[in-house]
Amino acid sequence: MEKDRKLIIAGNWKCNKTVAESVALVTDLKRDLASVKEVDIVVCPAFTALDAVSKATPDSNIRVGAQNMGENGYGAFTGEIAAGMLRDLSVRYVILGHSERREYQRETDAIVARKAAAAHAASLIPIVCVGETLGEREANITNEVVEKQVRGSLAGLSAEQVEGTIVAYEPVWAIGTGKTASSAQAQEVHAFIRKVVASLHGDAVARRVRIQYGGSVKASNARELMSQPDIDGALVGGASLEAKSFVDLIKNSI
Ligand code: 13P
Repeated sequence: MEKDRKLIIAGNWKCNKTVAESVALVTDLKRDLASVKEVDIVVCPAFTALDAVSKATPDSNIRVGAQNMGENGYGAFTGEIAAGMLRDLSVRYVILGHSERREYQRETDAIVARKAAAAHAASLIPIVCVGETLGEREANITNEVVEKQVRGSLAGLSAEQVEGTIVAYEPVWAIGTGKTASSAQAQEVHAFIRKVVASLHGDAVARRVRIQYGGSVKASNARELMSQPDIDGALVGGASLEAKSFVDLIKNSI
């Protein structure tokens, strides 16, 4: 189905790959995806490989994203990376509030919202992740959980900033488990997220905001998921770690 919104497919490499491995992967992707115009393609390597991957992708259709950033900018924040430092490496996107960070680093909606504001202030495009756990789905509170995360994680952003934010719906139970939400389950939550955005900033913003699905997306299920009316792309973990699986996934999505 033709959508007004351009598909955006991002590979989240998580805590994987040396610099050399990262450059080798992006070099293969550049070659194999050069003709793809229909999709915004993003790769998100570890911080240590951002510079090298960025330098390997000028004049290509592949953009680079980080997987996190500090909320405070430059200063006495040992171990943090400022948004400006990412811009300095020509990074365009930053994943924020991934469920792994919410779980292992105790990131809250309020922290994600402050990071999203800092990202926009530095002209980075945040990819803000939300999604329920298996227990929450089984307790039938998916909508409540996701609504709270969307409202909390976008709090304080202007309508224009929300429109320029990517929301990634990643049900926690589908991440790295091989269990994908069915396309109907995913579509239902995506439509609901769009409604929440509409209640915050109106229909026009909700119509334009792009919402990715994440959780065991692979070449074989990408077409079905991407053909849903409110699914505007994918945030891909495992299947983005090798050129062939990521290339096939993207080609199957268009
Ligand atoms: P998988 O594609 O490995 O399930 O990971 C999804 C994810 O967490 C992307 O951010």
